[in-house]
Amino acid sequence: MTTTTKPKIFIARPIPPEVEQYLARHCTYTKWSGDKPASLEEIIEHISDVDGLLTTGGRINAELLDHAPNLKVVSTMSVGYNNFDIEEMKRRGIKGTNTPDVLNDTVADLILSLMLSVARRVPEMDKYIREGNWKRGDNESLFGLDVHHKTLGIIGMGSIGRVVAHRAKHGFGMDILYHNRHRSKQAEQDYGAVYSSMDELLGSSDFIVLMTPLTEETRHMIGEAEFAKMKRTAIFINASRGQTVDEEALIQALQNGVIYGAGLDVFEKEPIDPSNPLLKMSNVVLLPHIGSATEKTRTDMAMRAAENLVRVLQGESPAGLVKELRDI
Ligand code: DGY
Repeated sequence: MTTTTKPKIFIARPIPPEVEQYLARHCTYTKWSGDKPASLEEIIEHISDVDGLLTTGGRINAELLDHAPNLKVVSTMSVGYNNFDIEEMKRRGIKGTNTPDVLNDTVADLILSLMLSVARRVPEMDKYIREGNWKRGDNESLFGLDVHHKTLGIIGMGSIGRVVAHRAKHGFGMDILYHNRHRSKQAEQDYGAVYSSMDELLGSSDFIVLMTPLTEETRHMIGEAEFAKMKRTAIFINASRGQTVDEEALIQALQNGVIYGAGLDVFEKEPIDPSNPLLKMSNVVLLPHIGSATEKTRTDMAMRAAENLVRVLQGESPAGLVKELRDI
């Protein structure tokens, strides 16, 4: 009779019990006991003999990898994998997986809620009424902007972008422009999305949603020059990564009336610095990076991350393998 040893993994973040039970069937594991994801230093203490690591967000860099000589796969519980040092992982033959698609609808809901909140000034009006400012005859000072039948420009027409386009087109009757590395025939056919140059999109959109992944090419892709091309009534939404935008330029654009407002789920520094001027602006709606944060979706993401990890350790190639590390 042959016995197979289960691979060893470290679970570096809290996960739901059913996901832990699934992992226990396939792996020997140590689990971080804190209620927040483990830090780099904390992860390093637990990975000297592991084959797999399940994590979110924190850098997977040479410093960490030097402490994990047996590591074969890192599974991140997020769609973004800008935390992976791809070259370093490639050099060491370590695979990486992420969790696309399971979060598309949830993130799209949040993007629409940011668009609506900024345009109709929802948090500002909520504060206004709570602070006892509502007086008879208040009128123009409470006006916002329409969302329905306006033009939405989507930068990064990936799977989340397409779900946003669906809601915007079929729910709000919006016209859709998009800019992407590749044309999306599906977005063009299903939502009448029009492929546009960056300049056309910036100049013609009432709402600009940035959904591109963070890479060396997309770092600070929206800065002073791009804000200057937007309409003065434009609303800018970022739900990708904070570093895709030059935040200083965004602050200037908001302070100087270059654009109307912004809805932000992500920031250059997270958690946000308490002295960040964005915190004092009434024309911005700020969220603490909660794009995918519903119980159902986070559970689905955790299960997907666990399945990715197990499948790679079993020698399979799950769909969640990130493209740069698929064939190493
Ligand atoms: C993602 O999945 O990338 C979300 O932004 C959460 O990190």
